[in-house]
Amino acid sequence: MHAIGIDIGGTKIAGALVSENGEIIAEDRQPTPAGDAAHIVDIVSSMITRLQAGHEVVAAGVAAAGFVDAGQSTVYYAPNIDWRNEPLQRYISERVSLPITVDNDANAAGWAEFRFGAGRLLTDMTMLTIGTGVGGAIVTQGRLFRGGFGAGAELGHLRVVPDGLPCGCGARGCIEQYGSGRALLRMANGIADAGGIGLALADARSRHGELNGTIVGEMIAAGDPGAVNALQELGRWLGQACASLAAVLDPQVFVFGGGVSVAGDLLLDPIRESFLQHLPARGYHPEPGFVIAELVNDAGVVGAADLARIHAGRR
Ligand code: BGC
Ligand code: NA
Ligand code: ZN
Repeated sequence: MHAIGIDIGGTKIAGALVSENGEIIAEDRQPTPAGDAAHIVDIVSSMITRLQAGHEVVAAGVAAAGFVDAGQSTVYYAPNIDWRNEPLQRYISERVSLPITVDNDANAAGWAEFRFGAGRLLTDMTMLTIGTGVGGAIVTQGRLFRGGFGAGAELGHLRVVPDGLPCGCGARGCIEQYGSGRALLRMANGIADAGGIGLALADARSRHGELNGTIVGEMIAAGDPGAVNALQELGRWLGQACASLAAVLDPQVFVFGGGVSVAGDLLLDPIRESFLQHLPARGYHPEPGFVIAELVNDAGVVGAADLARIHAGRR
């Protein structure tokens, strides 16, 4: 039977009706409104109702960019939107007639990659989503790791710089400040300020008023040395973080998703290189693969639907 997956992103809310095999049967998309959770709850609830109409559906899973509780009902804290202790499951359950589960967005994406994408033939996979923030998902021995209170695998908040840049989580020096899409923009701006290989970035910045992800992404794809340099800096930070993560998790593969991952090998190459530079006991144990996510934009909704089906005991 089908399940519904909803992925609440910074710019859009995506929803899909998903089969047991991870196929998308129907989908929907709405811009994310500014403002409070209540407005988002309205949109999500009506999206679920629309997707459900005329189908047999077992459950709906809602993925959000924050720390989620073990009961999979409340977003404790979302660093990049100001949600604090939002009982999303209760709000949505009041409006729709389906079992609702809440999940972390990166957990949902990672689970989809493990079941149907880049990790499907493996047992141990670590995923990092590189977007506005840095999300994490850990699959060990075929199971999604949630930690003791539900909010584990917040890999974006692994500290890589003692007393480094302040993070939306309240701490400092998190990898999210050195390895996210926002960090990429900060690095690109720094390179633009320095002149030299940054001249084209500086020029684009003055033409558009400011640099954004689309502009920098296009310049990376076109091979602009300044933009590629910023991406390499990002990759070196991520590679270093992966070396520490490998010492803990020993995954067979690291999977990279999120908007910045469309850069493909231009992102993976510096990650691999700095990973090897920092890997403990390098050369004496098997090394993981580094790959780009396969489900790209659909991972969140497909994973949220599958996790909701599991939570409802229907798989
Ligand atoms: C949040 C995570 C989320 C990630 C990606 C981080 O700032 O703490 O919960 O998965 O961003 O959206
Ligand atoms: Na996570
Ligand atoms: Zn943080």
